[in-house]
Amino acid sequence: MSTATAVLADQSADQSQDTKNLGYQTFSVGQFRFERDEYFAHIFYPGGRHLMHIEAFLRALMRDVGWGFFYGTVNFDNVLGTLNHYGTVDLFIGLLNEAYRSTNRHYVETFNARDLKKVFEAMLDDWTNEGFDPYAAPDETGVPFGPKHGNNTKALKRERIVAKRMVGLPGDLGYRTDEGGQPVNRQFLDVPQDSPEIHAEPGFEGQVHAFNMFAYTSRSDVTWNPSVVSNVKDSQICATTEEHMLPIFHGNDRVEWFIQICDEIIWDIQDGKTGRPRAKVIMRAGDVAAMPADIRHQGYSPKRSILIVWENNDGTLPQRYSSGQLKPYPVEF
Ligand code: PHB
Ligand code: FE
Repeated sequence: MSTATAVLADQSADQSQDTKNLGYQTFSVGQFRFERDEYFAHIFYPGGRHLMHIEAFLRALMRDVGWGFFYGTVNFDNVLGTLNHYGTVDLFIGLLNEAYRSTNRHYVETFNARDLKKVFEAMLDDWTNEGFDPYAAPDETGVPFGPKHGNNTKALKRERIVAKRMVGLPGDLGYRTDEGGQPVNRQFLDVPQDSPEIHAEPGFEGQVHAFNMFAYTSRSDVTWNPSVVSNVKDSQICATTEEHMLPIFHGNDRVEWFIQICDEIIWDIQDGKTGRPRAKVIMRAGDVAAMPADIRHQGYSPKRSILIVWENNDGTLPQRYSSGQLKPYPVEF
């Protein structure tokens, strides 16, 4: 064990020299150290090192930062990830990997969410080169490889779009338009752009609202980034356009519903704690699925598709599911 540790220390010293020459900063948080080279992210931690393809790493990091660590777990791959405790967050290696756990090779540190987010934001900004947008479909962006050149801060700073009540209401999010620089995506040229007619009962004028959510979503320039289009108490309807693959395995801490609006997504479902494969779910237009509270999932969308993710924002749910008070699935047939 001590020999292995010494060797790892030497390798990491070499690595630092290489990455310095490429112009990328090295980032440390707690006892984790992150370095990047032309093709890979290297993650060093007490007892080991991990490596990820830089494009997969940056796409996952973008979601983790953009969504404030999201609900539950953001697994960058089957080893590295974050677990949100809503205020603090665990950064882990192998915590939810059966092999790491059974040989006690996992490593976890807990951080104040704000502190970890700052480090992640700085890393994402420094490691993203000009021309690469980690939110864009692979066919709509450049590549992240090579020595450091330029940046893409503007793309990284996109705010997650959240309606207070509903898109199009007075004082709320506006519609997306050509004039506003939000053209219909190349894959959605067949999505009708008309608006619904509203016929309110007498006395209810001004209290009924509707908008064309398909048209709104067809103008999204990002992928795998749900935006809240309506918000009623804890019920959040999140619309998103999906092309290529969800760059994380999302580990639920509550039930989450999916409604497939058009085309097709294939989901890989694994056990949330161990990563054991559980199911493949093929969702076609009109299909509805409830993702249980004890799984992780990653989706693949061969053609750009529209998905609605229905989230329950009730903060008491993680504890009620993890304690067993609630069953991990919402219905019994
Ligand atoms: C999810 O993890 O449930 C998720 C995340 C991003 C998406 C779709 C689904 O775009
Ligand atoms: Fe999810």
